[in-house]
Amino acid sequence: MDADDPHANPSGSMVPNSDAAAAFAGDGVAAVDLFCGIGGLSYGLASAGVEVVAGIDVDGSCKFPFEANVSGAQFIERDVRDVTAEDLSNLWSEGATRLLAGCAPCQPFSSYRKDVRPSNDNRWELLNEFGRLVEETQPEFVTTENVPRIESKAVFAEFVAMLEDLGYSVDSSVRRCTDYGVPQNRRRLVLVASQLGNAAVPEGSQCGRPPKTVRQAIGGLPAIEAGGAHETDTVHRSRGLSALNRQRMEASKPGGTWHDWNAELRAACHRRASGAAFKNVYARMRWDQPSPTITTYFHNFGAGRFGHPEQHRTISLREAAILQGFPGDYQFAPEGDTPPLTTLGRHIGNAVPPPLGEAIGRGFLSSLAKVGTQ
Ligand SMILES: C[S@@+](CC[C@H](N)C(=O)[O-])C[C@H]1O[C@@H](n2cnc3c(N)ncnc32)[C@H](O)[C@@H]1O
Repeated sequence: MDADDPHANPSGSMVPNSDAAAAFAGDGVAAVDLFCGIGGLSYGLASAGVEVVAGIDVDGSCKFPFEANVSGAQFIERDVRDVTAEDLSNLWSEGATRLLAGCAPCQPFSSYRKDVRPSNDNRWELLNEFGRLVEETQPEFVTTENVPRIESKAVFAEFVAMLEDLGYSVDSSVRRCTDYGVPQNRRRLVLVASQLGNAAVPEGSQCGRPPKTVRQAIGGLPAIEAGGAHETDTVHRSRGLSALNRQRMEASKPGGTWHDWNAELRAACHRRASGAAFKNVYARMRWDQPSPTITTYFHNFGAGRFGHPEQHRTISLREAAILQGFPGDYQFAPEGDTPPLTTLGRHIGNAVPPPLGEAIGRGFLSSLAKVGTQ
């Protein structure tokens, strides 16, 4: 395998070892994506050649971007807690090897259900819902992705134990997104499980290479003002700055910290000794490094190192999307439509970087191809 070839199968992909697995070879992989959002994972899986038949999410504002970019896939607006095994069986195409993907949110999502009180710790409940649907449908392949800290939680150990009890081969590991060609220092826990052989989280094709930088990713985009948007690409739009934040931005150096500012510009909390350690807020990105983790608040100067390396503004929605590994022409809204900046910011920050999804998809497809040759 040529390590330079972006289309080569990632090494470490799943190796099937069961004779029974041969029965599944030949018809491709059909995926249903639970908690699909705007389709970061689905787009990646589809780019690898997986047939994504449907995405399910409680947030209807994800419908347009999901369906516009994940060709042929249907968006279903529904709470995963209300999805049944029968619903899923009706979605998977006949004869195909079934993949159930589900990247449950790691935060409580109580606002969507009146019966869930915010005081209850429901954070991991949705992973259990994903587990329920795996148990009830037992698809050949399963994948999930989440924040690294979930690895130490009992709910994750229980999820893995449930898969193993059902006879799945399971592998999980914390991966750096830069290894998959994403220009961002994001670490994620990836789990893959297979009934068709030994599961292994695929290695990134860029592993061991210099990471892609902010300059390589967004250095060529046209300049815009804080609070302004590009004439033809309304997603290349950044949040406005208050007069004080504008002064702070002007005093910030690429890769610097608020320590570079005059004392009068500093936030009250940063003047106290306890606040001095928080250096990666109110800061600009560095041109020649990957970006920091893109969160759902990347449009807020005070929320991280989200200042553009040289323009006096935070990064735009388009720039954040590119740093998340979305292609530059990903459609987030119908032409002429301008979705609220905070909604799109949340969707982009929440997404699984598509190149990671693509590697996961290639891993499953390569596993299935090997079944056929055994
Ligand atoms: C981490 S994001 C998923 C990102 C997505 N997989 C992607 O790659 O773009 C979690 C998603 O779960 C959805 N969600 C939260 N609670 C849900 C529920 N009870 N049922 C269905 N979707 C839910 C949110 O709307 C959000 O889009």
